[in-house]
Amino acid sequence: ARHLLGIEQLAPAEITTLLDLAEQYVELNRRTVKHADALAGMTQINMFFEASTRTQSSFELAGKRLGADVMNMPVAQSSVKKGETLIDTALTLNAMHPDLLVVRHNMSGAVNLLASKVNCAVLNAGDGRHEHPTQALLDALTIRRAKGRLHRLTVAICGDIAHSRVARSNLLLLGKMESRLRLIGPATLMPAGARDLGCEVYEDMREGLAGADVVMMLRLQKERMDGGFIPSEREYYHRWGLDAEKLALAAPDAIVMHPGPMNRGVEIDGTIADDINRSVIQDQVEMGVAVRMAAMDLLARNLRAERGAKAVGTY
Ligand code: CP
Repeated sequence: ARHLLGIEQLAPAEITTLLDLAEQYVELNRRTVKHADALAGMTQINMFFEASTRTQSSFELAGKRLGADVMNMPVAQSSVKKGETLIDTALTLNAMHPDLLVVRHNMSGAVNLLASKVNCAVLNAGDGRHEHPTQALLDALTIRRAKGRLHRLTVAICGDIAHSRVARSNLLLLGKMESRLRLIGPATLMPAGARDLGCEVYEDMREGLAGADVVMMLRLQKERMDGGFIPSEREYYHRWGLDAEKLALAAPDAIVMHPGPMNRGVEIDGTIADDINRSVIQDQVEMGVAVRMAAMDLLARNLRAERGAKAVGTY
């Protein structure tokens, strides 16, 4: 494929290929000298229309470690502030011949639209409530390394499912890889039709966590809530915050995940987040760089093949 827009478009074999390549980049990233040349001579532009710590910095590091020229477009100081549209901004940058465009936007579907207008490979770094494919891939790599497999694991995703692109991409990926999925959270934060996605749905966290192998906690996405019922943080923590007592109901070797950013004392107790025997939250960050290197490496190979085929056709 030319782009990485969502997990929806990926076949299980493609997911496995990407995770296997990412394993090699995990090893590279642990060395003192971290350079490879998969993107040598290529130009990568990062366009983040929404705030980011992990995704933007890991895409930047990933591109630099693979030898690309990386430019972070400073959206806050750009002509977007003068009213220029996303598409006009993208067409402007496209005229500078980038090879890879990494885009985060608050509108679901914006990245797909943009991909149809440019000549380069586009990677979705999170679009509205729709998808965050590299997050699901790094989560899958983290789970596979901790548990040795993805199939026949019971994965509990807890919290604000309705507004979460992380949950959506994870549901798609883990479903394709034959994990057993449970969604836990207040009914008001559960998407309509959640059961139709092949998931078990729980409002009671204690029931939902029973025997789970993986516990994935999510932040309350207040920036995406439009006036619906939001429980107070105190009530939310009491009923759906992960503490030691609730975690004790999961499998004894269950791992705890969180995509970040984390609100300690709201969806997760800080002691659990920091417990290196249970929490793999820092591993998720590490896997993020490797997965993004693998994703851009594979797209660059496709781009070279596509351009090579065109050149052969031309001459
Ligand atoms: N998980 C994630 O997307 O984090 P950032 O918003 O910091 O990129």
